[in-house]
Amino acid sequence: MEQVTRKEITLKSGHRMPVLGLGTWQLTGRHAEKILSKALDIGYRHFDTAENYGNEEAVGRAIAGGDRDAVFITSKVEPRHLRKADLIEACERSLERMRTDYLDLYLVHWPSETIPEDVTMEGMATLVDRKMVRSVGLSNFNVARIRKVLSVSDVPICNNQIEYHPLRNRDDIVAFCRDQGIAVTAYSPLAQGKVFDNDVIREMARKYDKSAAQISLRWLIQMDVAVIPKAASVKHLIANYDLDDFELSPEDMDRIHRMGIETRLIDTHA
Ligand SMILES: NC(=O)c1ccc[n+]([C@@H]2O[C@H](COP(=O)([O-])OP(=O)(O)OC[C@H]3O[C@@H](n4cnc5c(N)ncnc54)[C@H](OP(=O)(O)O)[C@@H]3O)[C@@H](O)[C@H]2O)c1
Repeated sequence: MEQVTRKEITLKSGHRMPVLGLGTWQLTGRHAEKILSKALDIGYRHFDTAENYGNEEAVGRAIAGGDRDAVFITSKVEPRHLRKADLIEACERSLERMRTDYLDLYLVHWPSETIPEDVTMEGMATLVDRKMVRSVGLSNFNVARIRKVLSVSDVPICNNQIEYHPLRNRDDIVAFCRDQGIAVTAYSPLAQGKVFDNDVIREMARKYDKSAAQISLRWLIQMDVAVIPKAASVKHLIANYDLDDFELSPEDMDRIHRMGIETRLIDTHA
């Protein structure tokens, strides 16, 4: 049985990303800091934030004093900051807020309709050159948009972070990313709680004596997809890290896959 909580994915940059991370959207202030500190105690080594989550300072406080290289921090830049100079300034501000010298992964949060991809990727290459960012990636990009970025980027595109959970089939984009060596991260991996009401997932939860959340996370990780469930309580943090003592059979993996439901939670305009 594969122990998955400490598993890492090697990115095209050569850096390694822990497959299990903590999503931090809607966690703010002292509460965010406390949850992140608890997460570190439990074993989480990967945190997902963004310049518009309002919690980069809290992330910084939670990791302060620890071994920076032992944690993997992802942040994201808003589309309005995708021109080269704006991008560099946005990254500088994120680093200042987190009081760190570098980000492990910097993502374009969602595509811009107006700023050309080559302009943005030139900025990303500069951030890598200046060692402000170790790996570069995208979020909410479809296949056509990823192709455009790939055609102009001098730095490897390491990651695409997309909405992905048992209630949303992403076969096309996941296959494309896999083909291109782009790691996939599933955001909203619990479908923001909607997986708890799904009959197939509930049946499997009973069969494996695990929760619907744990079935969903294990399903994604067994496909080498990174997951960043958000948790606002220690109880949920612990539960989402408790994934090592069971393994979904190939038939059950396939059964979830075959549900092929198309529930979209986040409107990304892309
Ligand atoms: N790139 C993007 O555009 C984008 C978009 C959306 C999200 N994200 C990232 O993905 C992360 C996760 O997505 P999300 O917050 O939308 O949804 P999610 O992780 O699918 O679901 C979070 C919800 O599930 C609950 N929950 C967590 N663990 C649970 C457990 N073990 N049992 C029962 N309930 C549990 C949480 O409750 P509590 O809060 O009470 O613990 C919360 O209500 C975000 O925090 C963010 O970092 C990125």
